[in-house]
Amino acid sequence: MANASGISRIFLRKSVGQIQAEHEHGELKRTLGALNLVLLGIGCIIGTGIFVLTGRAAAQYSGPAIMVSFVITGVLCALVALCYAELASALPVSGSAYSYTYASMGEGAAWVMGLLLLLEYGLAASTVSVGWSGYFVSLMKDLGWIIPPELTAAPGVAIKDVAGHVVGTGVVNLPSIIVIALVTLLLVRGVSESATVNNIIVAIKLTVVIAFIAIGSRYVNAAHWSPLVPPQIPAPPAGTPMDMWHQIGRALVAVITGDNSTKYGVGGVIHGAAIIFFAYLGFEAVSTAGAESRNPAKDMPIGILGALIICTALYIATSAVLVGIVPYSQLDVPAPIALATDMMGLKWFSALVKIGAIAGLSSVMLVLLYGQTRIFYTMSRDGLLPRSLATVHPRFRTPWINTIIVGVVAMGAAGFLSLDALSDLSNVGSLAAFALVCITVIYLRVSEPNLTRPFRTPLFPVVPILGAIMCLILLLSLMSTPATRKFFLIYLVAGIVIYFLYGIRMSALGRGIIVRGHEAEPMELPSTDE
Ligand code: ALA
Repeated sequence: MANASGISRIFLRKSVGQIQAEHEHGELKRTLGALNLVLLGIGCIIGTGIFVLTGRAAAQYSGPAIMVSFVITGVLCALVALCYAELASALPVSGSAYSYTYASMGEGAAWVMGLLLLLEYGLAASTVSVGWSGYFVSLMKDLGWIIPPELTAAPGVAIKDVAGHVVGTGVVNLPSIIVIALVTLLLVRGVSESATVNNIIVAIKLTVVIAFIAIGSRYVNAAHWSPLVPPQIPAPPAGTPMDMWHQIGRALVAVITGDNSTKYGVGGVIHGAAIIFFAYLGFEAVSTAGAESRNPAKDMPIGILGALIICTALYIATSAVLVGIVPYSQLDVPAPIALATDMMGLKWFSALVKIGAIAGLSSVMLVLLYGQTRIFYTMSRDGLLPRSLATVHPRFRTPWINTIIVGVVAMGAAGFLSLDALSDLSNVGSLAAFALVCITVIYLRVSEPNLTRPFRTPLFPVVPILGAIMCLILLLSLMSTPATRKFFLIYLVAGIVIYFLYGIRMSALGRGIIVRGHEAEPMELPSTDE
């Protein structure tokens, strides 16, 4: 590869063959089959989204129509998953969406994807830790240990008990910081030994969710489901035509104009969908295991879509049971599922749910932080980030400096940012990343029509176009919150400036250096094989 100069460097792209050749040097073991990939996906998907954010979304935006919000987001994720499946089967390499963009739209777009993935994985891990903290504090209270409330939430956050009563204001979320520190330590030491633990955690999580649906359905009061979509607040002016299409039209206008004053109504259902989008994050983490998959062409689509379909069904059922037991307006609490089990009066089940949530959320943090370190590792080998981020510990064989930096940043965010802020920012980053993935599929079909694609997205180009449009609508809905909008724009601009100051000059591809990965030993994924 000849040296490139000037602005043209941002369009430099790795050839598909180059990306695959680099990975042959990676020596990652191809041990993961389809079932492993589905389990890996479920392990990462079911977490704070369903255990915590469902409550906020129902109470503040969707009402009982939270089930509909889950359907909307499920459809969106299915469209994106088909796109991921095509890319993952055509480019079975690690680094996920970052590598796909590098091989298609070039280095500039890959850098932007890296920025978005940092929000998607790094901040998502912090978001999950805050959900974990809520269930942990609640379980400790049941056991008679009251953690001072101000040490359980970010500065300025009103702290609620499980019943929703405000009991103080936060200073720092200590349990969140501690759990991220523990996960970081585990990652530094290497997670390959924890395969069995991972399987057990997935089993516990599935048991808790399925038991909640099965037992909880007997306590549902169908009156709580009505009206499915609570009337919009503030109410539209008298005489405004409000059939469903008018409502959808108004909701889209509100989304586009940044009007977030509306609660409930159709606009609320869309905003609720944007919030619980977090619950689906993780299905694409399966694609980061491309290089460790036994038969990526066949197993990747099964892994990604299988995990997504199972979780979508569970989510719709769980949210229906939840709002059927607890009136939606009472659900804005740190541990809404625990509130529902308390209302059932089944103390033992309540304890089981909390233990299940605590264990289940731990595996999500592990996979998310792992994913983040893997992306930094790949970016560092590409020269876009400092080389030390690909340095591997001589004994543990893990990228320890990278992992510690990711862990410390995640700890800071977890301790000092509210759950709402964290989940919104993580959702915004992920939605933008997903839109870019959909666009990548279209771009690659046009630029590399002859590329072997063992799995092809059906109904091309409808699926990727619809996926990208749906991502943008939910993205705009979240950007209607001024703080989210400002942060996201400043973050993107700052990230792009850094690229022009550092990445563009140091890029291995731009400087004509072929990365062979001598000094950087690959990490191993938390295999679900045992
Ligand atoms: N989907 C994952 C969760 O809800 C990230 O925690």
